[in-house]
Amino acid sequence: MATHKLLLLPGDGIGSEVMAEVKKVIGWLDAQGLASFAIEEDLVGGAAYDSCGQPISEEAMAKAFAADAILLGAVGGPKWANVHYEVRPEAGLLRLRKDLQLFANLRPAMCYPALADASSLKRDLVEGLDVLIVRELTGGVYFGEPKTITDLSDGQKRAIDTQVYESYEIERIARVAFELARTRKNRVVSTEKHNVMKTGVLWKQVVSEVHGSDYNDVTLEHQLADSCGMQLVRAPKQFDVIVTDNLFGDILSDVAAMLTGSLGMLPSASLGAVEEISGKRRALYEPVHGAAPDIAGQGVANPIAMIGSLAMALRYSFGLIEAADRVEAAIAGVLADGYRTGDIWSEGMTRVGTAGMGDAVIAELAKAA
Ligand code: IPM
Ligand code: MN
Repeated sequence: MATHKLLLLPGDGIGSEVMAEVKKVIGWLDAQGLASFAIEEDLVGGAAYDSCGQPISEEAMAKAFAADAILLGAVGGPKWANVHYEVRPEAGLLRLRKDLQLFANLRPAMCYPALADASSLKRDLVEGLDVLIVRELTGGVYFGEPKTITDLSDGQKRAIDTQVYESYEIERIARVAFELARTRKNRVVSTEKHNVMKTGVLWKQVVSEVHGSDYNDVTLEHQLADSCGMQLVRAPKQFDVIVTDNLFGDILSDVAAMLTGSLGMLPSASLGAVEEISGKRRALYEPVHGAAPDIAGQGVANPIAMIGSLAMALRYSFGLIEAADRVEAAIAGVLADGYRTGDIWSEGMTRVGTAGMGDAVIAELAKAA
């Protein structure tokens, strides 16, 4: 069996706690002979800054380039609120995304039947929800230049961020969205603000062209981003795939995540282009949630998004579909059995901590094995 090189970057806050549960699952898959991993581990975010003054070291970047896939926990926290902007924890994550050219961020928002009552929306609006947000991840206002704060002569300051997209960036993310839609319900909603932004005008035009030339079989609809946000909380089940830019994707994916009951539930995959010769693509998998400093160190964080991120790695990077199916079924199983961390707990359910949830997933895996 092929050995897969996996780099673990637990990061900050609850990152290391949820990563510890993923290690249990990796260990179990290894022991069962379902997969074989060569594991490396390093620091990212505030943890890396504390150790070397940079949010990711050159050594860790080299490991990232050498890995078949990366699993990342979370970065950031109040401890680093005053560090220099260039070396803030988030810069480590952004460097990984940019240098590895992970332009396609897949953020599925699925509502497990057992959790429909944990949603802030009524059960019938979210039960069976299965939306995939495809977020452009290496362009737009996150990386556009100039990005500055300057002093003006009258004592005022001026801050500038730059939203910039070139057509090739829009085209390649649109293709990812259309291809994925074909494996699902064959519907894409493309969202931007063409009524106020030039990047929105170009976005809409390029997505339409790609659709017209190669994906006529897929149903395409354009929605303005504000309206899309409204529709996501009004009638989320109308969506199949949503394709959008870096900033709108950041916002809309948090909205979509919460529809499913908790941010603690949702994994994501950040993928590069498929390389011609090897057929491989660079990939980083991480929960949609952040470092949650308010609950860090208490052993109460929900590890499901992190374990789900491993399942996505098994599926998208390693082609271990059976192992991925098993892990995802185990997650659904523990939820159906009533195990709940605090973020998804409700009356009558069994409250567990981070390690308890990880152990329950392992027990469920073992039951099915
Ligand atoms: C996310 C996060 C990041 C982002 C932060 C930590 C830089 O919110 O992955 O959604 O804004 O992309
Ligand atoms: Mn975010």
